[in-house]
Amino acid sequence: MDERPIGVFDSGLGGLTAARALAEILPGEDLLYFGDTGRVPYGSRGAEVIRRYARQDAAFLLGQGVKAVVCACGTVSSVAGEDLAAGMDCPFIEVVSPAARAAVGATRNHRVGVIATAATIASGRFPEAIRSLDPEAQVLARACPLFVPLVEGGHIAPGDPIAGPAVAYYLRELRDWGADTLVLGCTHYPLLAPLIRDYLGEAVRLVSSGEEAAFTTRALLAERGLLSSRTKGGSSRYFVTDPGGSFAAVAEVFLGEPVNHVAPVEIGSLERLELQGR
Ligand code: DGL
Repeated sequence: MDERPIGVFDSGLGGLTAARALAEILPGEDLLYFGDTGRVPYGSRGAEVIRRYARQDAAFLLGQGVKAVVCACGTVSSVAGEDLAAGMDCPFIEVVSPAARAAVGATRNHRVGVIATAATIASGRFPEAIRSLDPEAQVLARACPLFVPLVEGGHIAPGDPIAGPAVAYYLRELRDWGADTLVLGCTHYPLLAPLIRDYLGEAVRLVSSGEEAAFTTRALLAERGLLSSRTKGGSSRYFVTDPGGSFAAVAEVFLGEPVNHVAPVEIGSLERLELQGR
């Protein structure tokens, strides 16, 4: 048993999809969420910058005394996942493998769509992970670079006049191709799930990479005897690098409850952090 919090991080709001799922399936666990809202988006940046930010984010959480780090960011998982895993001596959970497993389990026609940020799509990690589990799978992977700014800007309500046309623009090809399963390979995208469902129809199974990472986290902590002894009453604390932004307001809409404990983190202090390595 381990009563320390689970650390979850993302470039911004997207990792809340993992945090919400963790709070649902492990209601006794304390969660510590870090969103790099002052430097979002990561997905349009080069690999070197993403790796540097990722190391700083993970080092911040480790400095808070977490017992595990959930990298709830498709971009960081794809570009820097291996790098991070090698630099940590606590359980580390990324989103690519859990989402690939879920997609392979869900598809019937072996046509799997993947949508994610430009950096994630360029890395090729999702198609690689899906095909390694299902060699018959055909994968169509497409970047949707406007989705993250739309989510961070709060354009998430069904019928939103900007997000609705953007969803149609990015997903038309995947719909016409006949994917029966769509991996939301960026953890921000499930916040657009109602709009995506409206466009693709209920028959297409959506895989939330953040949610799948939460299930993997529960399994891994259970296997290593690191779950909390409590079964309810866990708390959530939030740290963001831009406390003046829309984080709390959008988080409240998404989580369906007030987000009270949001603390600022200075980007300058992050820049002095480095993972110590094993
Ligand atoms: N939630 C991040 C991801 O899963 C968003 C990346 C970004 O900041 O562009 O990829």
